[in-house]
Amino acid sequence: MSSNGLKLRGEVNIPGDKSISHRAIMLSSISNGKNIIKNFLNGEDCLSTIDCFKKMGTKVEKCRKNEVIIHGMGLRKLKKPIQNLDVGNSGTTIRLIMGILAGQNFESTLIGDNSIAKRPMKRVTDPLRLMGANIYGNEDANFTPITVNGGNLNGIEYNMPIASAQVKSSIILASLYANSPTKIIEKNKSRNHTEIMLKSFGADIDISGKEIYVKPVQNLYSEDIYIPGDISSAAFFIAGASIIEGSEILVRNVGLNETRTGILDVLKNMSGNFEILNKKYVCGELMGDILVKHSNLNSTTIDSKLIPRLIDEIPIIAVMATQAEGTTIIKNAKELKVKESNRISSVVSNLKKMGADIEEMDDGMVIKGPTKLSGCNIESFSDHRIAMAFSIASLVASGDTNIDNTRCVEISFPGFYDILKEITC
Ligand code: S3P
Repeated sequence: MSSNGLKLRGEVNIPGDKSISHRAIMLSSISNGKNIIKNFLNGEDCLSTIDCFKKMGTKVEKCRKNEVIIHGMGLRKLKKPIQNLDVGNSGTTIRLIMGILAGQNFESTLIGDNSIAKRPMKRVTDPLRLMGANIYGNEDANFTPITVNGGNLNGIEYNMPIASAQVKSSIILASLYANSPTKIIEKNKSRNHTEIMLKSFGADIDISGKEIYVKPVQNLYSEDIYIPGDISSAAFFIAGASIIEGSEILVRNVGLNETRTGILDVLKNMSGNFEILNKKYVCGELMGDILVKHSNLNSTTIDSKLIPRLIDEIPIIAVMATQAEGTTIIKNAKELKVKESNRISSVVSNLKKMGADIEEMDDGMVIKGPTKLSGCNIESFSDHRIAMAFSIASLVASGDTNIDNTRCVEISFPGFYDILKEITC
């Protein structure tokens, strides 16, 4: 129960999905014609993607608050940027754009912020080099600044060494430009928004289990896109309502693509109390409303197959686990170490400070609950998901919690604190 008697109640509209917003800008920019994108996420990461494509000649009109019109340049007609392409904090921008740049007939350089400078790019550089792209950069093009000299590409057969939608998507995008088909074999199924959206833009792409076949194309059609609410953002309120006694919230229009709903599977395993209403497909993506009520949670185990379906939700799942009865184990989650911060150590160090019974593992964490959390000074590590997860943790903690640099929530969820305030009563 919230130590100060507060609970979460009411209806919430979640901003558009970050992953889908990036893809909508990218595919629209390389399509032929005008694309209207509705419910676009105006978060800093997606604005970085817009900025990169503007520098390559894409005309972008911002209409109403969350509506963007993109006039596509065509698959091969992006222009060589005069300045470096700055991806800011966004891993999705840099990795997916590298796939598109690999197919362009010009050289361009990608830069980003201090966090991006520490994140590995070899996972994308390697397959793109196999396709024939020339890529240079720090430590054999593992780190920014990275220069991509695009041109003639060949199709490849690629067994993914890690489960990553960013890597998969980068290869898929490069495959559009190749002179022969590409086959990608996924390690574990990761989010498939690129595949879904590319099909609606007219790409020749087939999926069979963990195998993806992409044939090169001459053109992509233009397409209007409605973006569902981001389940990774909804997760903070879903978890909050689940652990705070007396809570009941209705989260509207959330994306329910099954490659993203691992958090709901976990909540079900933990005996969470939620219901999905009004399911419908929009632009090939399943969406619906989620009604969540407080419940007494049990522990759970989260392993490799589930990890890609909830990778961004692990910080808030760890917070939930501190309030659940029993031992929660999160394993095979080494990828957390190369996110916006090392999310294994960011979560463990902060939860330890709050008094949780949590142990750091090389590939995850073990949490024993339930524990009463105490307010303290929390480090966000300038990581948006850490700031939001611990804002929810502070609601079940006694005393005051201070989180540094909560401004970073602007990366993926502008308005997070306004919504939280609205539903806290
Ligand atoms: C994303 C894929 C995931 C996720 C990231 C967004 C995407 O990264 O963590 O926030 O939009 O494709 P990985 O592909 O590195 O797992």
